[in-house]
Amino acid sequence: MTDIPDSTRFDESLQLLLEGYGFISNRCQALHSDVFQTRLLGRRTVCLKGEPAARLFYDEALFTRKEAAPLLLQATLLGKGGVQGLDGEAHRARKRMFMSLMTKPGVDSLVAQVGREWDLRMHQLSAAPDVPRDLFIQVQEIFCTAVCVWAGVPLKAEEVPRMRADLGSLIDGAGSVGPRLLRSVFARQRAERWCANWIRRTRSGEYVPAPDSALAVISGHIEADGRPLDPKTAAVELLNVLRPTVAVAHFVLFSALTLRWHPEWKDRLVEQPALAEPFVQEVRRLYSFFPFAAARVRKSFSWQGFEFKKGRRVLLDLFGTNRDNALWPDPHLFRPERFVRNEPGPFNFIAQGGGSAAQGHRCPGEQLAIELLKLTTLKLVNDMEYRDHALPADINLRRLPMLPTDRYLITVLRAGRCASKLSVA
Ligand code: HEM
Repeated sequence: MTDIPDSTRFDESLQLLLEGYGFISNRCQALHSDVFQTRLLGRRTVCLKGEPAARLFYDEALFTRKEAAPLLLQATLLGKGGVQGLDGEAHRARKRMFMSLMTKPGVDSLVAQVGREWDLRMHQLSAAPDVPRDLFIQVQEIFCTAVCVWAGVPLKAEEVPRMRADLGSLIDGAGSVGPRLLRSVFARQRAERWCANWIRRTRSGEYVPAPDSALAVISGHIEADGRPLDPKTAAVELLNVLRPTVAVAHFVLFSALTLRWHPEWKDRLVEQPALAEPFVQEVRRLYSFFPFAAARVRKSFSWQGFEFKKGRRVLLDLFGTNRDNALWPDPHLFRPERFVRNEPGPFNFIAQGGGSAAQGHRCPGEQLAIELLKLTTLKLVNDMEYRDHALPADINLRRLPMLPTDRYLITVLRAGRCASKLSVA
């Protein structure tokens, strides 16, 4: 048995913040190994990359999610007591609740709601065609409005900007320090209070959401021990639907930028809408903005001659695996053709986790994200005329989560079916 190669004896939390998405891949390259150990937030941590590593990481017998997420992530992105930290039957029972919301009719109705909100918003924006708009914020607001309608949580029009900012901040602050982190902590507290209030009102009968809505399903969910979720945990789970739906706006932003950086794809999508699927898959592969997944070793074991010690934290490099040149030739190039006639496997394309969504920790919202991205990408190419006001040159991969180097500002000239024209300023 050999020791797992060490990248350093010192804590590398600061380097992680400085290097961002390249942190694990850079060390794998330097150490010629897809497995190494380091120290992060004061704890020894094993880092893994690649398809065999992903297969290993999703073996429930070897890894646990209990206490795997750092406390800072619980205070921002995840909250406490949610499905992400559960194992075994408790996890599967809770996961069934999410899967019951993410059925095909469930996904279709949320996609339709987003379509309606998108059309409405673009018509409104086209009434003031000279005013530059931040595309990312517009899309976040559209998703925030739509997911709240779909989830049965009443959100007044005047509350949308605040809620959009809070849901966006849960993601934006999670990988940061300083004011962004603080904003995120306060946003979680506010958003949990708001959701817990609607859970209580639903349970008391004061408010009656549609029976198949997320609010009704989560409020009425009964755990394996026969008890309902306490209001705080129920609020965390309701946010586990609202927050990531708004997060899909990141992918929409990257998709819109990709259309500008590869303008030939706009014409191809107009002519062959079926190419929307490979297009958005390639966007998700290149810009998988969730960098790592975390677990802990459940019991000591050896793999590829390396010893994994019980209790050790393990990070799987989602971003690096999606750009691994052993899996993806010319991994940094945008080539949707890779997904034409090629179904990705469960462990080589892990933008939203690997393995099975129903049985393991893979994201239950993956199909929803794909459908929302297809819808909005086709709307950008077919259903509106817009002009760049300021076009970012690149995406900052040192920032967690990644964002373009500048805001993408557009002016909306016309909305509605018009074989969309993208005017270049
Ligand atoms: C922007 C698009 C999204 C990205 C990048 C994303 C990414 C991920 C990732 C990386 C995981 C963790 C996988 C793991 O721990 O192994 C995850 C889990 C999860 N996602 Fe998503 N997700 C997205 C959209 C959604 C949507 C739309 C929903 C709404 C239902 C959702 C709900 C969840 C939940 C509840 C979990 C926890 C699953 C579990 O622990 O069993 N996500 N997601």
